[in-house]
Amino acid sequence: MTTANALGGRFPLGPGLEINRVGFGAMQLAGPGVFGPPADREAAIAVLRRAVELGIDHIDTSDFYGPWVVNELIAEALHPYEANFVVATKIGAYRDDQANWLPLNHPAALRSQVHDNLRRLRTDVLDLVYLRDMGPQEGITFADQVGALHDLKQQGLIRTIGLSNVELGHYAEAREITEIASVQNLYNVVNRTAATLLDATTEAGAAFVPFFPLGSGFADSRARGDEDLKAIAEAHGATQAQVSLAWLLRRASNVLLIPGTSSVAHLEENTAAGTLALDDSEVARLDALVAEGETLEEAH
Ligand SMILES: NC(=O)c1ccc[n+]([C@@H]2O[C@H](COP(=O)([O-])OP(=O)(O)OC[C@H]3O[C@@H](n4cnc5c(N)ncnc54)[C@H](OP(=O)(O)O)[C@@H]3O)[C@@H](O)[C@H]2O)c1
Repeated sequence: MTTANALGGRFPLGPGLEINRVGFGAMQLAGPGVFGPPADREAAIAVLRRAVELGIDHIDTSDFYGPWVVNELIAEALHPYEANFVVATKIGAYRDDQANWLPLNHPAALRSQVHDNLRRLRTDVLDLVYLRDMGPQEGITFADQVGALHDLKQQGLIRTIGLSNVELGHYAEAREITEIASVQNLYNVVNRTAATLLDATTEAGAAFVPFFPLGSGFADSRARGDEDLKAIAEAHGATQAQVSLAWLLRRASNVLLIPGTSSVAHLEENTAAGTLALDDSEVARLDALVAEGETLEEAH
């Protein structure tokens, strides 16, 4: 399923869409709380351009980030995009002026969000669009939302469809309606609650893109104190963030990384995790940190 390279190998997302397994999550490029512009716009643009220099060809974004700020930064920094460059976006929500994240997922609203993304990202077709499940909404079924994305794909506005924050049952339901190329849910070395969903994507040949791959601020996370993680990082002359990303790459060959950062140094560090080879005993020690289906709190 994957071929080797310095970015964790290549993964076939869809017809004519092969991408490196190490990508970049752009959410941290907005202002504090993912709201408003970054403190340093040039620094944010430098991160995006450095990602492309490093060979990254998959950037994860959304109009919710800012809102609009991150998509505008991506277009400013990277348009015209390199050939086979995948910008993955999400629809199904909006931000109000208090920075709340609210559902917006009537089929007509989903259609207009696709057109908004096309305009802001300055492209004719979106490579990967995730439906961000915002929970049950009165008068709208999940099937209606997936059907709206399917129609947009039929119209040629979307190349592949993904789901984000979904339950296993919704994943199965969506697959009856349309092809699902990718699922994006929370999963990392200390939070493995999405394990069954991950396994289902592996079986289906779809991508699984863990959000919060670093526990959103790994440096401060509970995992930092773990002795195994520390010892394995030291043995490789690597950081704990790199080890936790390398563990994700070993978890299953359909896992694609989108670590987020606003710093070029962290971007370079995270990208280098693509060449960090953990041996089987190290993987086993990290596997044993938390049971699949559980979080670190539940394990202790
Ligand atoms: N679908 C969804 O509902 C959803 C939800 C959340 C996120 N996402 C996506 O997932 C992507 C990743 O999530 P995320 O950015 O929130 O969390 P993350 O990748 O788990 O962690 C990012 C945080 O870790 C820090 N960091 C990054 N690299 C580091 C390193 N090498 N050492 C120490 N600290 C480091 C960053 O700070 P610095 O900026 O200082 O490096 C930032 O605070 C997002 O960009 C977004 O595209 C999706």
